[in-house]
Amino acid sequence: MDKLFIFDTTLRDGEQVPGCQLNTIEKIEIAKVLEELGVDVIEAGFPISSPGDFTSVEAISKTVTKPTICALTRAVEKDIEVAAEALKYAKKKRIHTGIGTSDFHIKYKFNSTREEIIKRAVAATTYAKKFVEDVEFYAEDAGRTDNEYLAQVVQAVVNAGATVINIPDTTGYCLPTEYGEKIKYLIDHVDMKNAILSTHCHQDLGMATANSLMGVINGARQVEVTINGIGERAGNTSLEEVVMAIKSHKELGIDTNINTKKLYPVSKMVSSLMNMPVQPNKAIVGRNAFAHSSGIHQDGVLKNLSTYEIIDPKEVGIDDNAIVLTARSGRHALKSRLNTLGIKVEANELANIYERFLELADKKKDINDDDLLILVGKEPNES
Ligand code: KIV
Ligand code: ZN
Repeated sequence: MDKLFIFDTTLRDGEQVPGCQLNTIEKIEIAKVLEELGVDVIEAGFPISSPGDFTSVEAISKTVTKPTICALTRAVEKDIEVAAEALKYAKKKRIHTGIGTSDFHIKYKFNSTREEIIKRAVAATTYAKKFVEDVEFYAEDAGRTDNEYLAQVVQAVVNAGATVINIPDTTGYCLPTEYGEKIKYLIDHVDMKNAILSTHCHQDLGMATANSLMGVINGARQVEVTINGIGERAGNTSLEEVVMAIKSHKELGIDTNINTKKLYPVSKMVSSLMNMPVQPNKAIVGRNAFAHSSGIHQDGVLKNLSTYEIIDPKEVGIDDNAIVLTARSGRHALKSRLNTLGIKVEANELANIYERFLELADKKKDINDDDLLILVGKEPNES
């Protein structure tokens, strides 16, 4: 099995969501659970951006020791100095520096040239190496950078000592095949020495997880992700989706250090601290991710879970799947729920109860245990 490094950026890219800002104590709390979850790298913040971010990166560096602690900078000397200072106490530290490489960024952000951008990229990498051994370089908007030029940038920063090269699809524009080909092109055209490629995908077209996986399949060995896919605009790649896709597809020959049983509790905690609800149909951690409501599915699951479940909910820290009784449920599901409530019904009774159940279910969105007890003539708290 090849190891895939999990780089969590919930506290940096994730925290850029309007209204989701966290204070230092909350950030430390999240960093501690990310450590327990088993992430390899925590991007703790962007120290030059505010005194609060500096303090958080410094505090996390002191408290959290197993993962590498990473700080973001622009390709600017002052940023790099401040990041190095904030990381002073970290046991394992990384500076993440970089610059925009697409023609959009070169022309409109920097009013510069391709040659000049390579010089600035190399200068930033070389400067960061004076402070830390582990330097990650990001080629911002790599998703819209042409592959030949991107390979020149990547080769130049690898030669300058970068250990990880981040290929962000900053605007979430790439198609999965396109992003996968980009990673393959770099693997084939750059002498990577000991450096690895990292994916960093955004969700603008809903393809962040697919793009990250195509990156991994084509040779990237780090993925940059956030809990619940939280992040600016439509968000970042969701940690839980990539991890469970990798775990569910053993044939990929890739493994992570993530303790998947902690995924659900961590998701709940981040959602509540960031005041950012998780959509009910969100893969892996959404309220309905393991809920079966149609009669055909409920019947199948009650006969054998493998009919409609690809993941045992316990593997992600959820106690059990849920059979939700609605007007779409069948007799089998109704009988099974009544049995769980300790109510045995004979076959001839079931038809009648089922008929009344359907009448009620047409009026109510879903039927809870108290509804069922009343339906069979018992007090709601009787059994
Ligand atoms: O999306 C992006 O390009 C980023 C970089 C700053 C790494 O978040
Ligand atoms: Zn990003």
